[in-house]
Amino acid sequence: MDETRVGTRLSGKRIALGVTGSIAAYKAVGLLRALRCEGATVSVVMTRAATKFVTPLTFEVLSGTRVVTDLFDAHEEITHLTIPERVDAFLVAPATANFLAKAALGLADDALTTMLLSVRGPIIVAPAMDGDMWSHPTVVEHVQTLRARGVVVLEPEVGPLASGQVAQGRLCGESTILAAVDAALAAQCDWHDQVVLVSAGPTQEPIDPVRFLSNRSSGKMGYAIADAARARGAEVILVSGPSSLSAPPGVTMIRVNTAAEMADTLFQNFRACTVLIMAAAVADFRPKEVAQQKVKKYGKADMTLELESTTDILTMLSAHRTSQIVVGFAAETEQVLSHAHEKLKAKGLDLIVANDVTQAEGGFGSDDNAAVILTATGEQRAFGLMSKRRLADEILTAVHEFCLVRPQRKFPVE
Ligand SMILES: Cc1cc2nc3c(=O)[nH]c(=O)nc-3n(C[C@H](O)[C@H](O)[C@H](O)COP(=O)(O)O)c2cc1C
Repeated sequence: MDETRVGTRLSGKRIALGVTGSIAAYKAVGLLRALRCEGATVSVVMTRAATKFVTPLTFEVLSGTRVVTDLFDAHEEITHLTIPERVDAFLVAPATANFLAKAALGLADDALTTMLLSVRGPIIVAPAMDGDMWSHPTVVEHVQTLRARGVVVLEPEVGPLASGQVAQGRLCGESTILAAVDAALAAQCDWHDQVVLVSAGPTQEPIDPVRFLSNRSSGKMGYAIADAARARGAEVILVSGPSSLSAPPGVTMIRVNTAAEMADTLFQNFRACTVLIMAAAVADFRPKEVAQQKVKKYGKADMTLELESTTDILTMLSAHRTSQIVVGFAAETEQVLSHAHEKLKAKGLDLIVANDVTQAEGGFGSDDNAAVILTATGEQRAFGLMSKRRLADEILTAVHEFCLVRPQRKFPVE
């Protein structure tokens, strides 16, 4: 790999690189550099055997992130669950015969094989071993099992091996592995022809220069949707109210404060989008008058704040829609399904994601959420508590299936 060449093929993509205990483990260092040169962010996971060949420090320095070697070394997060969820593709190179067997059987006795059971994106495996091992019936069978399950198992190359044998077993070249990762990512880009406008977070409605009315929304659900849509190939514009979260890579981010700014910004971008997903918790009311100076408490026993309605963004945008798919959220505290169904109909939505924000787990601020999806065509799909990132993928899958592939509407916009 020419290290001076910087590509963009994997720009914004997040790849997990699993390294196992093959003599070819040192080649994973070059592979890591190549992935980084193509713009990918790489998380490295090593088996214990791999650390006998190359030190984790080498990968740590070159990846810029902590290398996972121990399933039980939890640090601040449960990496065997968070890494597979965050990455767009999982690459194992080199992959030993032992790894192929464990992966085929679903064994999970180390960090790498445990992670593999949670991966939802493409898995690409580049084996490297002695020729006799590669042609052994058990290895052949395990490769077949993995391929039948959709895992991309690359053919090792024929050439001189560490044993002195000339046979098929050499780790295939960097360019072959990069092309396979690239192709696997492209194949799962089911949103590649969509422009997705996502709103997220709360709004802040000023009372005076230092106070505002707001709500408990953290923005996590909307940011997760923006990230998932980008990973599936969409062009994404994220319009976010005040949130401490940083923009997901590869997403165009526009920050706003008030409901009026949110409405204006969404309106400006609505015409160009193909799908609008309104995950923001926009204030329904704002103070009628905003004090120019800080309101003082001296001499006041009480204070009345007069409120007025903000623009109903979904209704406003629905009135201007041409062919856009419009998806809303219903954060409810009671009668979740009936309220969500009313909102779906009243606002002419194609799909609504309803969730009960009173649940102890899930809802505002949490990393997890449970939800029910209702569509204008009468489908209903429920999702138990899961990470917001995973739920984001489920929502996109439902929108794709119910609205983009079979877009018949059951009832008209009211
Ligand atoms: C010097 C040496 C080189 C090895 N090279 C390979 C190899 O290229 N491919 C392979 O499948 N196993 C190879 N092995 C055997 C693996 O390291 C062994 O099966 C180990 O248990 C693999 O563990 P892992 O799959 O958890 O990384 C090698 C072992 C040694 C000692």
